[in-house]
Amino acid sequence: MTTLHGYRGMLLDYAGDPSHNADAVRLEPDGLLLVSDGKVFARGSYSELAAAHPEAPVVDYRGQLIVPGFIDGHVHYPQTDMIAAYGEQLLAWLERYTFPAERRFRDPAHAAEVAEVFLSELVRHGTTTALVLCSVHPESVDALAGAALARNQRLILGKVWMDRNAPPDLCDTAESAYADSQRLIARWHERGRLRYAITPRFAPSSTPAQLEAAAALWREHPTTYLHTHLSENPAEIDWVLSLFPGRESYTDVYDHYGLLTAKSIFAHGVHLSGAEVARLAQARSTLAFCPTANLFLGSGLFRYPEIREAGVSVVLGTDVGAGTTFSLLGTLSAAYQVLQLQRYCLSPHHGLFLATLGGAAALGLDDVVGNFEVGKEADFVVLDFQSTPTLRRRLAAPADVDECLFALIMLGDDRAVRATYVAGSLAHALTPPAGQ
Ligand code: GUN
Ligand code: ZN
Repeated sequence: MTTLHGYRGMLLDYAGDPSHNADAVRLEPDGLLLVSDGKVFARGSYSELAAAHPEAPVVDYRGQLIVPGFIDGHVHYPQTDMIAAYGEQLLAWLERYTFPAERRFRDPAHAAEVAEVFLSELVRHGTTTALVLCSVHPESVDALAGAALARNQRLILGKVWMDRNAPPDLCDTAESAYADSQRLIARWHERGRLRYAITPRFAPSSTPAQLEAAAALWREHPTTYLHTHLSENPAEIDWVLSLFPGRESYTDVYDHYGLLTAKSIFAHGVHLSGAEVARLAQARSTLAFCPTANLFLGSGLFRYPEIREAGVSVVLGTDVGAGTTFSLLGTLSAAYQVLQLQRYCLSPHHGLFLATLGGAAALGLDDVVGNFEVGKEADFVVLDFQSTPTLRRRLAAPADVDECLFALIMLGDDRAVRATYVAGSLAHALTPPAGQ
């Protein structure tokens, strides 16, 4: 006998990419989402579904928007406590702020404490799936994976590899990174909702031997992911070309060592040439678009229109701590502005699609999350159009759903996230939900 739980509100999700096909927008103004055993049991109009399932208790979110949980395609949990660090661009920022913060994750107690804070911050901002870099210490993966498993939060995570150009006490070796990652894959990959990502930090901090070892490990475990940074900052790119003489481009370095795969996610890709973009498309790799981080570190503007046109799949990333918010709403607001500078209008539905089903597809998870298809995991967020005085006034006059959604994207933040449900369980609530 299944136990059904219902959630009543304005339901919005996508059957596909709404920028290609407007019919992909699925809006149920007075909708009901029925959940059973942590999965979507049914979605539809309240009047029909409630009559068919009178036994289901219903939580009343009328007047609020229920959307699939947000997907953060690139975020660093050891950087939680050094978000908003002043005054540097990428390479100096890494030396001055990032490495000292990550050094502390050698201590399992510190890692465990930050892991809890980080996972709470994700759900407080409506994020239910994240692709996460840990520190170089395997203990940092154990801390986050253990905490996420206990909370049933969906994560893809991995230990960072770096065997050069980092402080000596933060360096591993090709052999130790391989062995540690192999153990971590055995311990965590496909356990509950966890997946593993083999994570060389970026080309400058790995020797050729280490990049080769990362690719070899992935070939032995092709259901895992490969996750790294690519072409974020001009000084970084010059450095890569000097460290790997003979390689045509930054992308060619990863390609040469076997790291361009359909399971590869590269963060940033701000300064890619047309040839690099074409090669990424051919390899079916994914780029993580991290607009707040690209602005914060003065890295540049992600050329989304061109990259999308070339057929590269894209996921949004907050990239905290270079990113300035855990919020995918805030990230979409920055994305909108970055694209305005390129004379491209990111529609609110296109944006929300990227933060949900589009991100899920880019991470190869659209068979389990991303929308309210029956049988998918019931990760969802309740968003409040009235969460601030500014939003209330902006939406005081009658507005259609596109306008409401756009205002929410531009003006909303963690205060707009009334509740977050993870596999059907309440993981965060601003105020206790009301029964009906
Ligand atoms: N490139 C290499 N490491 C990092 C990092 O921690 N953050 C960002 N934004 N870029 C990187
Ligand atoms: Zn990053």
